[in-house]
Amino acid sequence: MPGLFEGELTFEVLVRRLVASLWHVSTLSHGVSMNNPARTTEASTYPAPALTRRDLMTRTALVGAGLATVPMAWATTSQHKETNTMRKRKLGQLEVSELGAGAMSISANYGPPADKRQGIAVLRAAHERGVTFFDTAEVYGPFTSEELVGEALAPFRDQVVIATKFGFNIEGGGLNSRPEHIRKVVEASLKRLRTDRIDLLYQHRVDPAVPIEEVAGAIQQLIAQGKVLHFGLSEASAKTIRRAHAVQPVTAVQTEYSVMERDVERNGVLKTCEELGIGFVPWGPVGMGYLSGTMHGGTKLDPKTDFRSGFDRFSPANLVANQPIIDVLKRVGARKNATPAQVSLAWLLAQKTFIVPIPGTRNTDHLRENLASIDLQLLTLDLVEIDTVFARMQVKGGRMNADQMRIVDATV
Ligand SMILES: NC(=O)c1ccc[n+]([C@@H]2O[C@H](COP(=O)([O-])OP(=O)(O)OC[C@H]3O[C@@H](n4cnc5c(N)ncnc54)[C@H](OP(=O)(O)O)[C@@H]3O)[C@@H](O)[C@H]2O)c1
Repeated sequence: MPGLFEGELTFEVLVRRLVASLWHVSTLSHGVSMNNPARTTEASTYPAPALTRRDLMTRTALVGAGLATVPMAWATTSQHKETNTMRKRKLGQLEVSELGAGAMSISANYGPPADKRQGIAVLRAAHERGVTFFDTAEVYGPFTSEELVGEALAPFRDQVVIATKFGFNIEGGGLNSRPEHIRKVVEASLKRLRTDRIDLLYQHRVDPAVPIEEVAGAIQQLIAQGKVLHFGLSEASAKTIRRAHAVQPVTAVQTEYSVMERDVERNGVLKTCEELGIGFVPWGPVGMGYLSGTMHGGTKLDPKTDFRSGFDRFSPANLVANQPIIDVLKRVGARKNATPAQVSLAWLLAQKTFIVPIPGTRNTDHLRENLASIDLQLLTLDLVEIDTVFARMQVKGGRMNADQMRIVDATV
């Protein structure tokens, strides 16, 4: 039987997790310490809420009766908390709100940029609702996303964690992680972000022309100078993560991960983060918008301003073909009065306590909707139902286009 992130989820594994969870209910809750040994058990794959006696009896009865057939229609008691208080999670040694805010799509890549006032308003609304973790990059815009984040967060800079990224050669194209280039980019990012330090600086894409040890060494110097506080990697392979971490401890790895995009479960990245005490930040947590359930075969994406128009996963045929994942999110959501986007985010929060998703939105209603997912606690049976649908379907269409996939680090 495959281990935690080593293979496809089989029906057997799903049932084993369900049964195991019955013996570990007391250890399963949001916010379990990263060092809690319970997290390494099979059951801890799916941290669930503190269970009521009724939930436990219901689960026990279901399993006892041999009803571990999934998907199953099962109405849960409400698991919503009455208050909406953002908890904290740890990325390595860096404490952040359990949900962050991705700033990219406000300024770039998913349609024309939003109005600046709207962008500032949505980022400040996130802060008002407890978000302390904001994600941007030099390349978003380029530059305009960092400028927006800098202006929006300036009034409360000391209360938030700002993450940005280097690694592209903006003028000439291609990648550039040479140490002198990193130093230059950092100076420019600091100005745009209106700050004297970058809390978390990621290498956006691994540059095959520059050994990762040199990159880690350059970041180490910037950390010694106080210009950068923490080191991150994005779309790096497990091997690269290990090599970098040996030089300068990596605080967080950022890679696409969602209910429908599971590569990091299979390629050793999540497992490596867990082993090394590195936080994991899923980008695309709402499937780049797809998992909100608002897209359909007729959805039109502007080829001039929307990257997704060139991604196979967003072709009209694939938007329809991948509908089973939306259907299960809706089914689970219907039992809990939750939207597909909320179930997607709650699913990520339930995977591991060192995971901090950064959903992106330019819309304050969507922001409110997404942040409410912190109160949505999925039961093991909900998680099993979702994973069973995923295991039985084959997601259609690559997550990005061929050019973008070529610069994703796959070194083994
Ligand atoms: N490291 C990397 O290589 C990398 C790559 C891409 C992104 N990122 C980072 O990760 C962040 C998030 O990723 P992402 O933006 O690609 O994907 P995402 O958060 O999964 O999806 C964002 C898209 O979903 C829509 N959306 C969000 N919530 C919604 C809701 N409740 N209902 C309907 N639509 C909703 C947004 O549109 P509306 O604005 O209309 O809500 C936006 O177009 C980015 O902002 C960026 O900071 C990193």
